[in-house]
Amino acid sequence: MDGNRGPDGPSDASRAAWTRDHASELRRDESNVAPVIYPADERVDDELHIWDTWFLRERGGEIAEIDGYRVIVALTASSDLLPGKRHDVATLRYFYSEDGENWETGGPVFEGEAFGSRQWAGSVLYDDGDVYCYYTAAGRAREKELSYSQRIALAEGGRLTVGDGVSIDGPWEHSILLEPDGELYETEAQYRGMTYTFRDPWFFEDPASGETYLLFEANTPVPEGSDACGGDPAQQEFNGSVGIAHSPTGDPTDFELRPPLLDAVCVNQELERPHLVVRRGRYYLFVSSHVHTFAPGLEGYDALYGFVADELRGDYEPLNGHGMVVTNPAGAPFQAYSWLAYDHGDELLATSFFNYHEYDRPTMDDVALLPEDEQRRRFGGTLAPTVRIELDGAETRVRGALDHGHLPLPREGLPEPWWTRAEGDDGDG
Ligand code: FRU
Repeated sequence: MDGNRGPDGPSDASRAAWTRDHASELRRDESNVAPVIYPADERVDDELHIWDTWFLRERGGEIAEIDGYRVIVALTASSDLLPGKRHDVATLRYFYSEDGENWETGGPVFEGEAFGSRQWAGSVLYDDGDVYCYYTAAGRAREKELSYSQRIALAEGGRLTVGDGVSIDGPWEHSILLEPDGELYETEAQYRGMTYTFRDPWFFEDPASGETYLLFEANTPVPEGSDACGGDPAQQEFNGSVGIAHSPTGDPTDFELRPPLLDAVCVNQELERPHLVVRRGRYYLFVSSHVHTFAPGLEGYDALYGFVADELRGDYEPLNGHGMVVTNPAGAPFQAYSWLAYDHGDELLATSFFNYHEYDRPTMDDVALLPEDEQRRRFGGTLAPTVRIELDGAETRVRGALDHGHLPLPREGLPEPWWTRAEGDDGDG
């Protein structure tokens, strides 16, 4: 641990950062472009739009396998709705599978009321039969007008049982775990840009120390008149960070805010769904981000971005020099989003959801201008093909893809990919 880095993290001056210099190198190339994808033969559930998805995991981060079942939790909404409306009514549902390919819908995670007018992404911990569900409480319960406040919430007391399939049942006890403090993390009242973020809690136990943490998506306050970004107020509005909170006792219900793990001030507004993979003692930090959340003067992509450090509070450097690990082809720039990377032997696998296909406008803003049946037709709303990624130190390469929603466990071999990158294929063909 170097002199600047106490257990609470580096001093501000040495905080790990994704800089404009790094991000100005972002390019689609043959190492990072995923193949064009097509509608799945079978969707996870025809009745549902499914987007952000995560595994039920154990304390050490292993994917839980219970009596032969693996379980995922996802944001869902009725597929009768226009895809763009789904965020306003998002509900957590769970799904389970014995083979990682065929998924059964378990049902809503919560029967009763939860915090928020809807629930956004999080993570779910399985600890000896007990289920702890971390989620984002978006808005307020029973609000008359949709609001965008975001708080990090926990539901505890859930139990998982296996009978004819998997069932997760309450009663749940819900609490608000974390809210932004205005110093380390921007509050709703402070933001000056597109919006603020304080969401997507991710449970993490550090294998080096055994300490318990929550990671989350946040923003670093940049006061008006600050000299950040050379004093440029337009760039200052882009102030994404990866937040972290620590549990002093290891109790998975009690966390305190700590300084961010990584800042992207002057670079990007949204470092979404942060999560870590620890491989051979190195910490790989992943986030998803969008084309439109990069600061003026930078050209980014809807993509999975990654960073590596030698310790949890290390000086994260962007993978491949710029950070981009997987992106969509130029002809289908919004076909997948919200990646989740996990370890698989020598490779990483990344699942994501099948977003808008056959849509190649420069931004997604005008999706809503398409006729309604076209909006529906072009929205995937189910799991995307799983991407296989080679990882060598700080370098990555997309090497192939498995079927939609095929999520093998680390102990399972990988099948023949449906697509393998040919030498020299930049995925843009
Ligand atoms: C990423 C995301 C998450 C959020 C969810 C809301 O796809 O923006 O950060 O929890 O979508 O639908």
